[in-house]
Amino acid sequence: MRILLLGSHGMLGNEFLDILSERSGFDVTEFDRDELDVRRREDVLNTIHRYTPDVVINATGYTDVDGAETNVEEAYALNAYAPKYIAEGSRDENAILVHFSTDFVFDGEKEAGYTEEDTPENPINTYGASKRRGEEYVMETNPYYYLVRISWLFGKHGKNFVYGIRQKALSGEEQLRVVTDQMGKPTYTKDLVKEVLHMLQEKAEYGIYHLTNGTPEETGISKYDLAQTTVNMLGSPVTVVPATSDMFPTKAPRPHYSALRNTRREPLRGYEQAVHEYTIEEEW
Ligand SMILES: NC(=O)c1ccc[n+]([C@@H]2O[C@H](COP(=O)([O-])OP(=O)(O)OC[C@H]3O[C@@H](n4cnc5c(N)ncnc54)[C@H](OP(=O)(O)O)[C@@H]3O)[C@@H](O)[C@H]2O)c1
Repeated sequence: MRILLLGSHGMLGNEFLDILSERSGFDVTEFDRDELDVRRREDVLNTIHRYTPDVVINATGYTDVDGAETNVEEAYALNAYAPKYIAEGSRDENAILVHFSTDFVFDGEKEAGYTEEDTPENPINTYGASKRRGEEYVMETNPYYYLVRISWLFGKHGKNFVYGIRQKALSGEEQLRVVTDQMGKPTYTKDLVKEVLHMLQEKAEYGIYHLTNGTPEETGISKYDLAQTTVNMLGSPVTVVPATSDMFPTKAPRPHYSALRNTRREPLRGYEQAVHEYTIEEEW
């Protein structure tokens, strides 16, 4: 299978590179920002046409959620128009497009969480709105797509929430204040990449997928729960103190309820196991 991987130095892209390099049967060509600027339509199309891939994996994105509130154009360039160009190029080659989106395309008001059947009407912030536009472009341009929504992504190649908690827990701080009023589901890059590769190998049906790690309740866990789990695993004496979102104002609002429910495939393994592997078993 010929794979063209875009955004190969990001948190998710790098995980794809790691796992693909250990697998046989995949012929991978990778690009990062320095080699291909995905905002440039002609360059995107020429690259895809030159490599004639079977699969294009788009792991690029403008991921600064608060920054997107002021850098609106840049957020749309990366999260909406670039996916459109990538969808055009992959469609011309009859290639499958794997594209990643976010829980922030939803409004965050649905306590039960969101399934793949839910249509995002009112994204919670500008980042979410730009990602939603990208979703629409992908779906209307290339029929061979896996649009994979993920949330609270963590993995060894980037800064993320669990990373931050780990650093603080090990730095000797006595207390950590973490919000109890943001419910969602974490996604471990390793589990996500393996599942996407399964989907490609099994020739899963095209469409939208929510891929997140399992939580005891379908409605997800709070950020507080995730922090407490991480601290417990590290055996850190730090106290995790419950807080609310209004104590930490951010430029971009965050959703109260944004659990992505996986109804089309089994959820990825339980989040505790994933957090354990990431915080304890990975090399740091
Ligand atoms: N992180 C999360 O919690 C989360 C949650 C939900 C969905 N997602 C989605 O998952 C995907 C991957 O996220 P991530 O956390 O791995 O992001 P990331 O670490 O910020 O990586 C983004 C990648 O995009 C590349 N990039 C930026 N501008 C580019 C340009 N003009 N041309 C080509 N490449 C460019 C970056 O290159 P440089 O390394 O050179 O900057 C980097 O490799 C994104 O679509 C994101 O929206 C992430």
